[in-house]
Amino acid sequence: MLSCDTLLRNASVLDGSGTAPELLDVALCDGRIYEIGSSLACNAATIVDAEGMALAPGFIDVHTHDDISVVRAPAMPAKLSQGVTTVIVGNCGISAAPVELRGEPPDPMSLLGARDDFCYPTFASYVAAIGAARPAVNVGALVGHTALRNNHMDRLDRTATESEIDSMRVQLVEALDGGALGLSSGLAYLSAHAATTEEVLALAQPLASAGAVYATHMRSETEAILDAMSEAFEIGRLSHVPVIVSHLKCAGIANWGRSSEVLQALETAQTTQQIGCDCYPYAAGSSTLDLRQVDERVRITITWSTPHQEIAGQSLAQIAAEWNVTQLEAARRLQPAGAIYHSISEDDMRRILAHPATMIGSDGLPNDPRPHPRLWGTFPRVLGRYSREERLFSLPEAVHKMTAMAAQRFGLAERGLIRKGYCADLVLFHPEKIIDTATFIHPVSPAEGIAGVWVNGVLSYTAQGATGNRAGRFLARGKTTWAQ
Ligand code: ZN
Ligand code: CU
Repeated sequence: MLSCDTLLRNASVLDGSGTAPELLDVALCDGRIYEIGSSLACNAATIVDAEGMALAPGFIDVHTHDDISVVRAPAMPAKLSQGVTTVIVGNCGISAAPVELRGEPPDPMSLLGARDDFCYPTFASYVAAIGAARPAVNVGALVGHTALRNNHMDRLDRTATESEIDSMRVQLVEALDGGALGLSSGLAYLSAHAATTEEVLALAQPLASAGAVYATHMRSETEAILDAMSEAFEIGRLSHVPVIVSHLKCAGIANWGRSSEVLQALETAQTTQQIGCDCYPYAAGSSTLDLRQVDERVRITITWSTPHQEIAGQSLAQIAAEWNVTQLEAARRLQPAGAIYHSISEDDMRRILAHPATMIGSDGLPNDPRPHPRLWGTFPRVLGRYSREERLFSLPEAVHKMTAMAAQRFGLAERGLIRKGYCADLVLFHPEKIIDTATFIHPVSPAEGIAGVWVNGVLSYTAQGATGNRAGRFLARGKTTWAQ
């Protein structure tokens, strides 16, 4: 008889491909999926009765800012408790590596950590730090355009010179050689807004031969979103690189109702090039407090403020009223600060979430004292609320968006599917019970309905909470495959 470490019996297996579930046994051995079948005869050290439960590949959070958390707070409870087994860091142009600061981290790099937290001058030193920290989840990493700019430019409010671009490119290529998944940009932020399309194009050039991707927080998510999409697609087309549009949304009240138009533009581009996007299942965004986004009609909640620390959790309207000033003036006085903007329409968000191009990315901000609930709630919310309750898409489709689609597009080899020989990243959950519990009022709250999470074959989380085992690894870039 076969022998294995763990045998999961009679699970409703959602293998990540998007096909209907099948009742199967799954055996794990040495961190891999050893055998899949019905009534497996296997001598297992641990047997789990999975009857009535769904077994899926561990979820992949394709859009995170966990760069420094995975090293400094490696237990990663916000992610593990959702069934997430891999996070992709380095999004929105900001990454922990390769970074050498000469002063305070610029906005929005400050979202990742304080000045002393940035101690990875090379990508290799960051990879080594992940190895030493052994986070509870696997880590794939993009390199941030803004981070590169800040390494080589004296000021960020201009486009880079040719020699600065050359220096950035050397660092990017070194990171790609070290397994980075690609380049990310955050062109909407003032720390990268002055970069021309040509600057980004020059950096995107080495991505193609490496088989890496370009992920972008576009130059605009408001009125000029279509122009911003054209720019992103042009960069992908001219450099022959797949494009991932980060947290696709129509932000700002003037922009509500435009999701069909936006998705149409994405579909048109998809006929000639590889395009994907990610989305979080909430009608509100969160980042640093941006004066350009202050709009009296939009509810804005302050998540942190350096000069007014006591204010976290209050609305900007309330603060402005108390101080007897306009919201814009209050926002100025709160700087630097973080905010949640209730500036997305639920209908637009649903349409984007349900689109076949869309993966799931939390965009959670792990350092916020009062974070957006997406940090703890994203994946169970997609499964429980938007798939089961609202029937926006089927359960196999929801799982596909958070597993195989993500692994294939970012090049995470042997992940994202339940297949013999694949890495044993798995999540066992109650399909009828899984739901997020984190809210805007109580944002730090683990999901319900997660029964077990295995990372590289190691049981890391159960219904009772984290087991304390941390089995995550750095995931170097593999081959990407796009079926769109
Ligand atoms: Zn972003
Ligand atoms: Cu982001």
